[in-house]
Amino acid sequence: MTKNSDVLPVYVLNGPNLNLLGVREPDVYGRTTLAEIETAVTKKAQALGIAAIFRQSNHEGDLVDWIQEARTSSSGVILNAGAYTHTSVAIHDALRSLEKPMVEVHLSNPHNRESFRHLSYVGLVANGVIAGFGANSYVLAIEAIAALIESNKG
Ligand code: DQA
Repeated sequence: MTKNSDVLPVYVLNGPNLNLLGVREPDVYGRTTLAEIETAVTKKAQALGIAAIFRQSNHEGDLVDWIQEARTSSSGVILNAGAYTHTSVAIHDALRSLEKPMVEVHLSNPHNRESFRHLSYVGLVANGVIAGFGANSYVLAIEAIAALIESNKG
């Protein structure tokens, strides 16, 4: 079992338009707000003995800066890069330098949507991908990254 005192926090990073969750295309993304997701993630992380730092930005450079910060200040990253998932070589390159476990997460399943969502620059460097379970994708992602952190400790 992981203990708060011996692991750095997990960064949970969210990209563009995810601040609008709850009102944005609820038929696709559900009615749960990002603040409610943060509460659920924090609770699950605490139960697993890790801390979670939760952030959102509509700006690609903020995500790059936070991924760089996570190299030294986190034990791993959960990333929903929103539309930048499908476009951003800058985020891809930042992730290549992360050297920590990283889980890609999506509320929807991009693979059963438009073809422009089928390519993920994040997934190319992720340990794993959790998509299509709505807000619960984040809770599943915290479980997955906690297991990766635990197995990397030994
Ligand atoms: C998303 C899927 C992306 O294709 C989209 O651009 C988003 C949200 C998701 O969580 O389902 O903004 O990342």
